[in-house]
Amino acid sequence: MLKIPVFIFSAWLLRGSFMAAQVISQASIPAQLPSGAGIYDPSLNPKVQSLLRKMTLDEKVGQLVQYSAGQPTGPGTGRTDYEDMLAKGQISALFNISTAKETNAYQRLAVEKSRLHIPILFGLDVIHGFRTEFPIPLALASTWDPQIVENAARVAAKEASATGIRWTFSPMVDIARDPRWGRITEGAGEDPLLGSVMSAAYVRGYQGSRLDAPDSIIACAKHYVGYGAAEAGRDYNSTEISEHTLRQYYLPPFQAAVNAGSASIMSAFNAINGVPASANPFTLKQVLRKEWGFKGIVDSDWTSIAELIPHGIANDGSTAARKAFSGGVDMDMASSLYHDHLAALVKSGKIPVEEIDEAVRRVLRVKFALGLFERPYVDESREASAMLQPSSLGLAQNAAERSMVLLKNAPGPNAAPLLPLSKDDRAIALIGPLADDSSSMLGAWQGLADSKDVASFPVALTKQIGEDHLLRAKGVNVIGGSDEDINAAVAIANKADLVILALGESGGEMTGEATSRAHIGLPGRQQELLEKVVATGKPVVLLVFSGRPLTMPWAFQHVPAVLAAWFPGIEAGSALVRTLYGESNPSGKLVVSWPRDVGQEPLYYNALSTGRPIDPATPDNNYVSRYIDEQNTPQFPFGFGLSYTSFKYGATRVAAKQLKASHLMPKLGNGGTVLSVSADVTNTGQRAGEEIVELYVRLEGTSVAQPVRALKAFEQVALNPHETKTVTFNLPADAFALWNDQNKYTVEAAKATVWISPDSARGEGAAVEIIP
Ligand code: NOJ
Repeated sequence: MLKIPVFIFSAWLLRGSFMAAQVISQASIPAQLPSGAGIYDPSLNPKVQSLLRKMTLDEKVGQLVQYSAGQPTGPGTGRTDYEDMLAKGQISALFNISTAKETNAYQRLAVEKSRLHIPILFGLDVIHGFRTEFPIPLALASTWDPQIVENAARVAAKEASATGIRWTFSPMVDIARDPRWGRITEGAGEDPLLGSVMSAAYVRGYQGSRLDAPDSIIACAKHYVGYGAAEAGRDYNSTEISEHTLRQYYLPPFQAAVNAGSASIMSAFNAINGVPASANPFTLKQVLRKEWGFKGIVDSDWTSIAELIPHGIANDGSTAARKAFSGGVDMDMASSLYHDHLAALVKSGKIPVEEIDEAVRRVLRVKFALGLFERPYVDESREASAMLQPSSLGLAQNAAERSMVLLKNAPGPNAAPLLPLSKDDRAIALIGPLADDSSSMLGAWQGLADSKDVASFPVALTKQIGEDHLLRAKGVNVIGGSDEDINAAVAIANKADLVILALGESGGEMTGEATSRAHIGLPGRQQELLEKVVATGKPVVLLVFSGRPLTMPWAFQHVPAVLAAWFPGIEAGSALVRTLYGESNPSGKLVVSWPRDVGQEPLYYNALSTGRPIDPATPDNNYVSRYIDEQNTPQFPFGFGLSYTSFKYGATRVAAKQLKASHLMPKLGNGGTVLSVSADVTNTGQRAGEEIVELYVRLEGTSVAQPVRALKAFEQVALNPHETKTVTFNLPADAFALWNDQNKYTVEAAKATVWISPDSARGEGAAVEIIP
């Protein structure tokens, strides 16, 4: 196992985090398509055109066909004759192959045997790392630091490209408001601004500064669109999303990816208002192509073209292929229906050949932009040395530390907050199914990560406190476990001075695709174990490992210290120990609302007010929008996270009390400042710490109701003990914009409230009037 000592994590490795200490708002997200670079480079056109002229119809169709040639991750197509198909020019792209030797072998068939020698494009789900596994995307987003995300994506690109993979099916930029949906783990949570910032950061990281650099890979923003709105949080389920909601919440992270230059987009499985996303001319043609000017590839999700049949909009494969293609999907992932039917559809006049040509141009343009024609093969001798570089592991450790969210830190036995722990002579009992589960630490979509490379938590803890001070018991499995094992764990807890409990979900099996859960509490007998260990009266630190918020009201009431560790990736053990012992001070904040009970879902902070909101002064009034058996509020709101120090916020101050909508409108999308907003933030504790300072806006009196709060900017601020900084946000016009009742992006006259606050539920707002 490759291990690196802590001292090499020098300042430059952590540079990403310091560089991010800048205000992030809509103005930080690219508002325009990149020109002259990558797939938008006009010098590619003559090369594309000259090749296209030589192609037969069958060869053209071949460029729109993609198969999985490795581990299947979904229903198969029944085809295995890829070698023969490659030689005939019938395949454009392959995925799920992940060694240089294999990609080169397949590439040789395409380049040497096919008539036109067109190279194939190799893809893989490189979601949060390749060999160097970073924390899960939900955790990476909890850093609120796009530079960390960009750096992680860059490392992933370098490692993946060393095996010949030049296409990742990432970032997943689906807004997710319901943690029953297992894929919430793969995205950046519930907020469109944060989601857009992270979306652009992944694209920059993967694609680098030039697509034709051998270590650049193309991004694929997915799943376009609305997949995260699956009804009841059940994966693949249908969605009902109004155009307003689509435009204001679900589309922005995709537009951010397009504007950052993403060379591909994946069309989703779900139906939107009855029209499947993989045959949806409104989202694919009107919005993506016409309004945003996207010139990259639209790839279907795995068999989502064949799934038009069970969706009920096609009764046979030919109709499914026609509807998907005419709806705007360029490439067929794994259905084989384009291979089977497109040529015949052209010959029968149902699809104009000009449309096929246009789709093929888009594919060829990507292949030229990547330099695949000049360098189709990868240097096998460089594959191993690209992996697990010390600097990559350093980034992974920093990302893991910055992603953890401290949810509770009440006083322990000596009246001080229980965390951080001090190195003393106490005996520590480490209990729970996730304490030593290296594979789970990698979360869902593990790329080529090897659980043997994961920094083990027990090993790191032993190093920290010495073998004699560590007692161990598993207690239960994630699901299942015996009374004897629970009793043995309680006996171990009784012998210790302090207990660290490592509970939660298993990373691979319970999070990610097809892992929706109707019950989102601690699985199996873990709650029982927790209650019995707490009953020993020993101070307990609870580490929660999960790919979603877990409902654990009892734990939050009875356990003094709770840290959401998510699935921290390859440096799990070292990051956990450094965090528990205060060598790293937690600064992560939630990017999803943490519910009290699953019955509250979907629960998200940027909801609309009802006509009968609860009056906080009389919360028990009847005939208001509330539950009779649960509070409306989350356990922890979006944006929440504690630190080992404490911060105090002064009142929000605005530089002007009035703004003119007619002055703001021409400035939309152009950056620039229309209002400065400030607040003093003081570190009132005894330690240096970093605080993510958040800015929210509410608009009232608009044509379409706006959320009770919407995140419009944030900044990470480092503060020494007793230090105060004035945090100033120079807001762009977009901070006051909305999609109106005509589905136009604009600024309207409104009563605005602006908060600078530590999370989405606190803070003292300032009023601003927006006049016509
Ligand atoms: C299906 C998943 O929905 C998608 O995210 C993934 O990229 C493809 N399978 C390919 O593995």
